[in-house]
Amino acid sequence: MRAKANLREGGLIDLVEIREGDALETLSADLPETIDLLLLDGAKALYPEILGLIESRLRPGALVIADNADFAPDYLERVRSPAGGYMSTPFGDEVELSMRLG
Ligand SMILES: C[S@@+](CC[C@H](N)C(=O)[O-])C[C@H]1O[C@@H](n2cnc3c(N)ncnc32)[C@H](O)[C@@H]1O
Repeated sequence: MRAKANLREGGLIDLVEIREGDALETLSADLPETIDLLLLDGAKALYPEILGLIESRLRPGALVIADNADFAPDYLERVRSPAGGYMSTPFGDEVELSMRLG
């Protein structure tokens, strides 16, 4: 898991809780009260469902970073919809950066 190694090298590993397994299961229970950052980089087709599991815990101002979001059109439609509750913009190559609104 490259991300885990990067977190360790960057001295951030103690700030992160890693849940190994199918995200649809590991993120379906016992979530923290609030979440500040969500990085989506798993199966693109699951982006909307994963966001749905986490969304109620995202604090206002929380960031959602979705890699290769062009392969997740349903996800893009959701975060870019004016009624979706996000301010969202493409960022760099193939990344969608979204901020949770109040
Ligand atoms: C593009 S790679 C991301 C790698 C990651 N950024 C890293 O540095 O380790 C996509 C990863 O998502 C994983 N994945 C796909 N669907 C998943 C799911 N439902 N739950 C957990 N992981 C999943 C795949 O096994 C693959 O390792």
